[in-house]
Amino acid sequence: MKIDINKTRSQFPILQQQVNKRPLVYFDNAATTQNPTEVTQAIVDYYNNYNSNIHRGTHHLSNIATEAYENTRNNIRDFINAKHSHEIIFTRGTTESINLVASSFSKAFLKEGDNIIISHLEHHSNIVPWQLACENHHAQLRVIPINEDGSLQMEELEKLIDDRTKIIAITHVSNALGVVNPIKEIIELAHKNNIPVLVDGAQAVSHIKLDVQNLDADFYCFSGHKMYAPMGIGVLYGKEKWLNQMPPYQGGGEMIKDVSFEKTTYNELPYKFEAGTPNVGDTIALKTAIKYIQELDIESIRLYEDELLHYATKRIKEIDGITIYGTTKQKTAVISFLIDGVHPYDVGVLLDKMGIAVRTGHHCTQPIMDFYKIPGTVRASFAVYNTKEEIDSFIEALKKVKEMLM
Ligand code: ALA
Repeated sequence: MKIDINKTRSQFPILQQQVNKRPLVYFDNAATTQNPTEVTQAIVDYYNNYNSNIHRGTHHLSNIATEAYENTRNNIRDFINAKHSHEIIFTRGTTESINLVASSFSKAFLKEGDNIIISHLEHHSNIVPWQLACENHHAQLRVIPINEDGSLQMEELEKLIDDRTKIIAITHVSNALGVVNPIKEIIELAHKNNIPVLVDGAQAVSHIKLDVQNLDADFYCFSGHKMYAPMGIGVLYGKEKWLNQMPPYQGGGEMIKDVSFEKTTYNELPYKFEAGTPNVGDTIALKTAIKYIQELDIESIRLYEDELLHYATKRIKEIDGITIYGTTKQKTAVISFLIDGVHPYDVGVLLDKMGIAVRTGHHCTQPIMDFYKIPGTVRASFAVYNTKEEIDSFIEALKKVKEMLM
């Protein structure tokens, strides 16, 4: 199915505005995607018509809210092809999903002298929670090194694994470079050694068709706000067999079966991991965003974004003195680059003056920047509503920036 770009853009009112007297070109989609009107309307509809706390009520509104909330869980199960709905845990986002596993899995399984493997490509939120877990349990953090093009040194992974490796936590797609990791291969290798794998899917979920059973991922984490849904809602998928063995992450309402001052027993999955009043409105909006992606068709989105990536890469190479970081064949629509000798922040500020939104800096991946010995990059990241015309404006603006700064 071909993306109807005019129709698609008309569904995102935020894109219709001018910034600094120029049409907005929004190329910061790896940081957050915009919401189509269907999604914002779902939030308004919830708050105008059936806002209510769930599970606890026997009243009409509570029942409608509960049903919509639980239906979202079923939709997500189908969207990522999980086996069971109770393997879907709602969180605030990818960071909270990873922290949940790092904390609870480690309490259950990590002992002094064990090790955890991550990669050099990780976002800080898939580094720091594991560092904390290692500190708490006197374990070691091991890191898969990368090559100059941003790919993982897969042969090194085999050397890092030993019989004290308890989990591998790896990103599906690098947020800073757009590089796609061979996670199926990593999971196969890990499972041969009886090691579970957590995948940080924040940068993959709106670009790549997901099938967690086919991947055989043990945990898969993602955020709503990178898939055309609001901020503050995310998902942890976990295989039932692991989630059942892990202790609760937070204590509070809904996660209990029975409380006395002497002893508390915990609720079953998924409620064991959902303490407190959940973010019902945004969860329901996430369901609408998933429907939106399904209607566009994720494979069509991938093909369209791939076209944008190839076009932008070709055009940016027309400008002398630009270095692109992350040059593997398998990439999502992210171009991370520097104008040689120019600080990325200066480029970002000047692009903004021309209405172009990019992210600059280390993108919460300082180890990647240390690897390339650079302070950061300028990152342009595309979504399904971006166009080649916008890329042309971006290239013209970059040429001007270069003239101004060099
Ligand atoms: N992780 C998000 C990014 O890459 C915030 O910008």
